[in-house]
Amino acid sequence: MSQKQVFKPNREFAKDARIKNMCEYQALQDYATEDYEGFWGDAAKEKLDWIEPFSNVLDESKAPFVNWFDGGKLNVSAQCIDRHLHVRKNKAAIIFEGDRGDVQTITYLDLYKHVNRFANLLREDFHVKKGDRVVIYMPMIPEAAYAMLACARIGAIHSIVFGGFSSEALRDRIEDAEAKVVITADGAFRKEQPYMLKPVVDAALTGKTPVKKVLVVQRNHEDVEWVAGRDYSYNEMISQKKSKCEPEVMDSEDPLFLLYTSGSTGKPKGVQHNSAGYILWAQMTMEWVFDVKENDTFWCTADIGWITGHTYIVYGPLAMGATTMMFEGVITYPDSGRPWKMVEDHKINQFYTAPTAIRVLHKTGEHEPSKYDLKSLKVLGTVGEPIDPPAWKWYYEEVGKGKCAIVDTYWQTETGGHVISPLPGATPIKPGCATLPLPGIMAEILNPATGEKVGVGEKGYMCITKPWPAQIRGVWGDEERYIKSYFGDVEKDGKPVYFSGDGAVYDEDGYITITGRTDDVMNVSGHRLGTAEVEAAIKKHDNVAEVAVVGKPHPIKGEGIFAYIVLKCDEGVADEVEEVKAINNIIKKEIGSIALCDDIVFAPGLPKTRSGKIMRRILRAIAKGEKITQDISTLEDPGIVAQIEEMVK
Ligand code: WTA
Repeated sequence: MSQKQVFKPNREFAKDARIKNMCEYQALQDYATEDYEGFWGDAAKEKLDWIEPFSNVLDESKAPFVNWFDGGKLNVSAQCIDRHLHVRKNKAAIIFEGDRGDVQTITYLDLYKHVNRFANLLREDFHVKKGDRVVIYMPMIPEAAYAMLACARIGAIHSIVFGGFSSEALRDRIEDAEAKVVITADGAFRKEQPYMLKPVVDAALTGKTPVKKVLVVQRNHEDVEWVAGRDYSYNEMISQKKSKCEPEVMDSEDPLFLLYTSGSTGKPKGVQHNSAGYILWAQMTMEWVFDVKENDTFWCTADIGWITGHTYIVYGPLAMGATTMMFEGVITYPDSGRPWKMVEDHKINQFYTAPTAIRVLHKTGEHEPSKYDLKSLKVLGTVGEPIDPPAWKWYYEEVGKGKCAIVDTYWQTETGGHVISPLPGATPIKPGCATLPLPGIMAEILNPATGEKVGVGEKGYMCITKPWPAQIRGVWGDEERYIKSYFGDVEKDGKPVYFSGDGAVYDEDGYITITGRTDDVMNVSGHRLGTAEVEAAIKKHDNVAEVAVVGKPHPIKGEGIFAYIVLKCDEGVADEVEEVKAINNIIKKEIGSIALCDDIVFAPGLPKTRSGKIMRRILRAIAKGEKITQDISTLEDPGIVAQIEEMVK
């Protein structure tokens, strides 16, 4: 199956779809092009429940800092819950399936009560106020969603840290955001065994910390340390709280959350999203890209610690009043039929996952889908990295039985929601191709040198040339970094435009294929990791003199981590196995298991230019096992290349 093959939308499906054909798509895109503010202003009026209407659609006077819907007042938790109570209070808002198969259905009315109690607890007992930062370090349990929405209700800014991050990574994020409260759990269950989170929080809070209170949800009921005056039990406190809490009246541009993500330096960036624009686009993309209908059940397998979990497990589905599935466990446990069993059991209509998961499910359970009734499925989605044709084909044929559209959604933490994606009832799809910008998104592949749109087949930079409502509003505490990271590389008509960090190419139909990062950010199992971040962790090992980390293609993870390490001792490595262990332990402690190296080579030196710059291109080529064709005579020590090549063989 090549990228040239085109698959038309399922006609039956298209009949009822919100966007039914390419003419409708084009009409929306034309409207946005002709009257940008009209397009977005109409959408915001129609989709959002305003406490007070906005007076201005877009203010670009301080670009690249932008304001959307100024003057408007709303509350995101009310948008996600309260407004649904008249129409769907007994409808399932969240269906939770635990690792061990335990199921909980939480209706919109239940959700209202849980979130209001939680909000009262934070407000009354922990004195959390509008604008305060709250770190959430939680497993995939409904209380994580309640915590997010409770923060939104009282105007606190949440910052979720993925539960796989280590205590050091958690500590950095807590300190950067100056969070005063951490919400966590004792732990949860994975493969029927309890695992722990609270000890990681304890370790992150040793020494000086801005955190005053820790709220602990007891999920696995294992013993944990308890710091008197700091740690409180959610389970004990929550039943005493009132189930009504007035939502804080928020400005359109009041911050909703921070989410730290990797960039090209060692320090993660706190990506800031604000209220109105973010929730508007979360809802609109749910409606357009997944085309979720009133009685549908939607399942996104991401973790709430990533942007995909924020937008497509919690905010998007709830804003539109959908039923969203939440899963605590591992998709290959007890076997690779687990997700298909869940599709059958819960009659899932839209299934959204990452290519790395599809590859694992394909490899370990090729024929599992046919053992289950998957008739409910209408739309399949992927996100996080380009999907390779074999995985795409299996997903399309075995899971979707050739009748479900695959929406290959391209977006980022910074874009808040999808920006380039097929529409399931309209866009003819091609394997591995994100296709076209969504209506309202002015995405273009530009030549960074000229700022002009590239021609067919010519690689360029994936840019967005106009602000959009769900765009990143800033890097927490660092205005310069926001400008430099996103608006420093490409100008169009003399004006800086948003550059994603990704390369891309147009085909003859104008379809966009993302070719991958152009910077030093890796994409490991769909997770973003900066090479500099991993290098900074490895450098903490006493014996390490120098290190260079590169990504290397990996059959399951997409990209694996390859580290070249120069040790301090001249005699070489005493015990390689022990050194590798020690280095991996440091990575685990500093970042977490997601950043463990797939390959470590103890090199005698690194290829550098005479000015001392490490030639990563050469290291990437060696890691891939490619022949070095470029001129290496300008290197400080050209002989080093052959030595490293010999070691990697
Ligand atoms: C990559 C995840 C190709 C891309 C939502 C981007 C993709 C980074 C796709 C963002 C896709 C995401 N095709 N590449 N459909 N979706 N990416 O911030 O490199 O965790 O810049 O957001 O993932 O990762 P992030």
